[in-house]
Amino acid sequence: MLDKSNSIYFRNVLDNLKNEHLFRQLRIVNEIPSSRNRDPALNICDFSSNDYLALSKNKILIEKLQKVSNNSISQCSSRLISGNTSSLEELERSLSTHRNSETALVYPTGYMANLGVISCIADKSTAIFSDELNHASIIDACKLSDAKTYVFSHNNTIELEQKILSSKENRKIIITEGIFSMNGDFAKLVEISKIAAMYCCILIVDDAHGDFIVGSKKLKNYSGTPSLFDVDRYVDIHISSLSKGLGCFGGYVSCPELIRNFLINKSRSFIFTSALPDFMCEIATSSIKLAKKGTQQEKLEKNINYFHNFAKEQDIPGLAKNIQTPIIPIIIGSEKKTVTISRKLQTRGFYVHGIRYPTVKKNEGQLRVSLSAAHTYDQISDLIENIVHLLKQ
Ligand SMILES: Cc1ncc(COP(=O)(O)O)c(C=O)c1O
Repeated sequence: MLDKSNSIYFRNVLDNLKNEHLFRQLRIVNEIPSSRNRDPALNICDFSSNDYLALSKNKILIEKLQKVSNNSISQCSSRLISGNTSSLEELERSLSTHRNSETALVYPTGYMANLGVISCIADKSTAIFSDELNHASIIDACKLSDAKTYVFSHNNTIELEQKILSSKENRKIIITEGIFSMNGDFAKLVEISKIAAMYCCILIVDDAHGDFIVGSKKLKNYSGTPSLFDVDRYVDIHISSLSKGLGCFGGYVSCPELIRNFLINKSRSFIFTSALPDFMCEIATSSIKLAKKGTQQEKLEKNINYFHNFAKEQDIPGLAKNIQTPIIPIIIGSEKKTVTISRKLQTRGFYVHGIRYPTVKKNEGQLRVSLSAAHTYDQISDLIENIVHLLKQ
């Protein structure tokens, strides 16, 4: 039983969050009531998931899941003990072929990949240069490392260069996302990779939201944002999640063999945790094959274009207009208004998550519209009309 003073402490913290409209609650998404029974599985039209290619509900993958899960549920062990299997290694081979990298290393989640990679390659003599909008897992990883972290303004390459020049540490690491998870914009990877090469920095790109979605237009490889900007060769370590474009679960790093060996020996969130279950590795390997066909990305691209063309006619205040990715933010401002609009959209049958501090800055609450290849044009135009209506109220 918590004693009285501890209970008061926790209650005060939560009460303050409630007063600031920052209190978070879990919702059972498949039970959200809706008058609009569009998606029988969800009972609501979901514009919040990161399942951009709609592979998490792909029939072929679900059929396969029923077969592969016969063997065992989990290895119940870390990879260095008895958790390493041929399915894991096969997944890593598929991922390194996908990324055209020397090797890959799978982690249980993308969060753990960031934590494990950054905290172990950065030591006391290291400076980390991190974009201010980088994901929480990168921020936490920087905190966990012994390095000095220099945060530069979002995509501000002049400031990045100045910070590198004024830093005194011997080793330097630049870390940025490929497609930013909340803003939906691209990192300026051409400029950033030039700076990394000029100042001998290790360049790490967390491309959780670009991987399998974008890639070289010529090769149609969907290998992520560095490939889209043709700077793959300058990226030393590429980090990604299997739970977004691929519709599965897990995280991975693609990198040179030298780094892989370093991580296997030094990365604590790789060493001291159980291996990603075998069945998930097998599904992820099959999902890569489907994702590489490119049909879902073509549908997604049509939906992104449709969204912007329809939105142009409506003139939505706060809408980021030049975003050619599936993440489309609409800045609302106050946390209270953000939550209210998100809730009202829910009662109208749309699930669009209201993003608040600390995920974004205070008073910069936003609706994060996340498009998928499975949305129909009708669903997209209905959503936009409802947002416009609510914003005018
Ligand atoms: C940029 C970025 N990196 C890493 C992660 C973590 O990935 P995972 O969900 O696989 O832990 C996320 C998740 O939202 C993300 O947006």
